[in-house]
Amino acid sequence: MKKIIILFLIYLIFNNQIIGSSPNPVFGENGMVVSTSYQASEAGIDILEQGGNAIDAAVAVGFALAVTSSGNGNLGGGGFLIASFNDGRSISLDHREKAPSKAGKNMFLNDSGNVVPGMSLYSRASSGVPGTVDGLIRILKDYGSGKISLTEVLAPAIKLAEKGFLLSHYEAMRFNTYKEFFEHNEAAKKIFIKKNGEFWKKGDRFKQIDLAKTLKKIRKYGREGFYSGSVAELIVKEMKKGNGLISMDDLSNYESKYREPIFGFYQEYEIVSMGPPSSGGALLVHMLNMLENYSLDSLGWNSSDYVHILTEVERRAYADRAEHMGDPDFWDVPLDMFKSKSYAKNRIRDIDVYKATASNLVSAGSPIGYESPETTHYSVVDKWGNAVSVTTTINLNYGNGCIVDGAGFFLNNEMDDFSSKPGVPNAFGLVGNEANAIKPGKRPLSSMTPTIVLKQNKPYLVVGSPGGSTIITTTLQTILNVIDHKMDIKEAVCAARFHSQWLPDVIQIEPRALAKDVINNLVSRGHTIIPYRGGFIGQSNCIMITDEGIYGGGDCRGETSSIGY
Ligand code: DON
Repeated sequence: MKKIIILFLIYLIFNNQIIGSSPNPVFGENGMVVSTSYQASEAGIDILEQGGNAIDAAVAVGFALAVTSSGNGNLGGGGFLIASFNDGRSISLDHREKAPSKAGKNMFLNDSGNVVPGMSLYSRASSGVPGTVDGLIRILKDYGSGKISLTEVLAPAIKLAEKGFLLSHYEAMRFNTYKEFFEHNEAAKKIFIKKNGEFWKKGDRFKQIDLAKTLKKIRKYGREGFYSGSVAELIVKEMKKGNGLISMDDLSNYESKYREPIFGFYQEYEIVSMGPPSSGGALLVHMLNMLENYSLDSLGWNSSDYVHILTEVERRAYADRAEHMGDPDFWDVPLDMFKSKSYAKNRIRDIDVYKATASNLVSAGSPIGYESPETTHYSVVDKWGNAVSVTTTINLNYGNGCIVDGAGFFLNNEMDDFSSKPGVPNAFGLVGNEANAIKPGKRPLSSMTPTIVLKQNKPYLVVGSPGGSTIITTTLQTILNVIDHKMDIKEAVCAARFHSQWLPDVIQIEPRALAKDVINNLVSRGHTIIPYRGGFIGQSNCIMITDEGIYGGGDCRGETSSIGY
């Protein structure tokens, strides 16, 4: 009898741990890759199994995503990478696109000084000089294990492009949804619309012969295979079909750049994230600094008090972003202000716990005195405890819709992330000012927030998301879900989200994110609540490292693949 009671107690304790946790953070003892595509995650795991480190694997995942997730994985775009190594070092690599040398402040304005609708998104002038290829090759050379060659990291991507891969249900649906969009571009039409015009379906084999040729050029000539020679010539030829500005010189002069990561502390955890030209890391740390002054766990997850406080904090942070953030090579970004705990404390002084602050009453502080997942985030951890967090994009799904004919990849429309005109919102409703005005060679301000949270100096969480302006608040909520609300990594990334960004002065919510009485309570405090325009917010593919092993948490919103080994 005693034995049965003990067994029952053990069952209760064990079962209790499961209750409230999601069933499947995927477990791995030696390594983990979480990305939006099964084939890309597999490419990364293969490299880890061959003895490669997390950097080698991340590079293989990056190239594979350019083949299997064409809406966001890319050769024609850019991104940011954070890596934390088992010896305590952390680095960040900016491989964001740059404005071409012929770009100018008013390039998207008409003669009356108004923004030409759609020009920064759907013309050839919307493309910045791509950075992905330079970034992936640089990081492999500098921080790869040295045991895995460029040829080896490219092999899965080349095979997937040349021999084709079987479309998943989601990828087939995405192609079908964008059929009309592809029809605007002859090269896109040839590749992404079925010959007989029928809809794609799960299990169809999808080949990309031109893309395979481009990848082989990179295999043979390294970065030169993309930034000079025939691929570069094809990019420039593509520009000349419209108002595109990228020149051969722009391509050969492109360089990714190591930058000091943003470091911050939240409770006993250290945050390592991406600094400018992404606003992500600085805003994340700024918001965590403000939130540290509240006991969020006792407010309760997605309670009206919790949503209210996060919204007030986000309002202030995004107002600061609009005024102070831009490419640090061109603008003096007050990073000390964003990282300062005392500035954060000062910034929340006028938050009323029971009343919303109207956004028009919030302006930027001074230094010490709307869619679907169109970007993609992936996370990698190896058996030595090295962690890599990468967010990459061509901005909107399939960028500006323009395939480089003969080279097989889409071009980004990242120029829209600049502020085309002060106060005029971009595709994500973000406004900006002089700090983020267009200049030749400048990088547009990003919201991408690849982040690693360290616990006792070792990688604990590898996090990030797509979602434009919502990337930063998604990453924030994922971190709070684990640290304050004690969720496992799967539950943390799948939990319903909300978002606020100063302007427009609204809280955007996912379906079923907030109970009716919570919404009523927030409205009575003066908030306006609207559904998020794309339905769901972000797609967070994250990892948690614990004493017993590595857990992969792929987002429940759409396609994801966590593979551990
Ligand atoms: O860099 C940025 O902030 C944007 N270009 C990211 C775009 C994005 O996440 C689109 N996905 N939903």
